[in-house]
Amino acid sequence: MTQAQTLERMMNKKSAPGPTPGLVAGSKRPPRVISVTSGKGGVGKSNIATNLAYALRQQGLKTLVLDADLNLANVDILLGLTPKYNLQHVFSGEKGLRDILIEGPGNIKILPASSGIMELADLNENQRLYFLAEMEALETEIDVLIIDTAAGINNNVIYFNLAAQERLVVLTPEPTSLTDAYALIKVLSTRHDIKKYRFLINQARSEKEAIAVYRKLCLVTDRFLGSLSLDYLGYIPYDAKLPQAVRSQRLVCDLFPDSPAGRTFTRLAETIAAEKPHREQDGNIKFFWQGLFGG
Ligand SMILES: Nc1ncnc2c1ncn2[C@@H]1O[C@H](COP(=O)(O)OP(=O)(O)OP(=O)(O)O)[C@@H](O)[C@H]1O
Ligand SMILES: [Mg+2]
Repeated sequence: MTQAQTLERMMNKKSAPGPTPGLVAGSKRPPRVISVTSGKGGVGKSNIATNLAYALRQQGLKTLVLDADLNLANVDILLGLTPKYNLQHVFSGEKGLRDILIEGPGNIKILPASSGIMELADLNENQRLYFLAEMEALETEIDVLIIDTAAGINNNVIYFNLAAQERLVVLTPEPTSLTDAYALIKVLSTRHDIKKYRFLINQARSEKEAIAVYRKLCLVTDRFLGSLSLDYLGYIPYDAKLPQAVRSQRLVCDLFPDSPAGRTFTRLAETIAAEKPHREQDGNIKFFWQGLFGG
C-alpha cells in the first residue's frame, strides 16, 4: 500500500461517534502528563501507574493510562481485561483512539498497547498526523494522562519520557534499580536536557530505607551529572497484598483499599491532586504527542 493510500484510508476511517461512555467533555485545564519510568524492569511501574490512576480517579480526576510498553504490553493483563484493539490498530489506521479506549476498574480509561516490537520512530508522517488529530479530540475529556513506560532505555522509553511533563522515577532498594535509574537519567539529562525528576521508592521496608535509597541516587547524580532537580515524592511499602491482587488481576487499591500499599496510593493521589501544575506542565496532549513525534 502506498503512503497516499494509507493516508486516505486513515482519513476515511471514522472513530465511534459521540463521547465514550464515562467520559464527559469539558475539562478546562490542559491534562497533566506524567510518565512512570525506571530503567530497571519489574520494579512496579505498571502497578504504580494503574493504582495511581485509580486513586486519582477516586479524587475526582479523570485519568487515562497509556500502556507505553509497545513490546510487552501488560496493563490489560494486570487488570484482567481483554482489549479487542490496541495502539497498533490506531497506527495502522484501522481504528480511531476512541475505538480502542477501554474502561478499567473504578472508571479509569486505558489505551492498550500491542505485544510485538514496535518503534515509534518507524511511524511515517501520515500516521503521526492522524494520531495527533485523534489525541486532540480526547484531551478535553481527561485531567491526567499517566504513561506506563517499558523498562530499559530504548528509543520508545526516551521518547515517552521526553514528551511527558513530569517524570516519576520508580526505585527499589535493589542496587541494580539505582544503576539502571541512573543510566536513564544520564541519557535524559545529558542528551535531552531534562533536569527535573521525582522519585517514588517502591517495595521499601521503612521510610528510613526509602530515604537512604533516594539519598544514594542523589549522591551519584550530584557527583557525575551536575545539578538536577531531584524530588522525593514518597515510598510504597513492600506489601504482600499487592502481588496477591496481581494474581487476581485486580488493583490493590480496588481489592485491598485498606492495605498498607492501598492506603499509600490514596495518600499519594491526594498529594498529586492537590498540586498546582508548574509552568512547564502547561500544554496539552497534542503537545505531548508532538513532543513524542518531534512534529
Ligand atoms: N509494593 C510492592 N509490594 C510487594 N510486591 C510488589 C510491590 N510492587 C511491585 N511488586 C511486585 O513486583 C511485580 C512487578 O510489578 P510491575 O509489573 O508493576 O513492574 P514493572 O516495573 O511494570 O515491570 P516491567 O518492567 O516488566 O514492566 C508485581 O507483580 C508484584 O509482584
Ligand atoms: Mg510494566
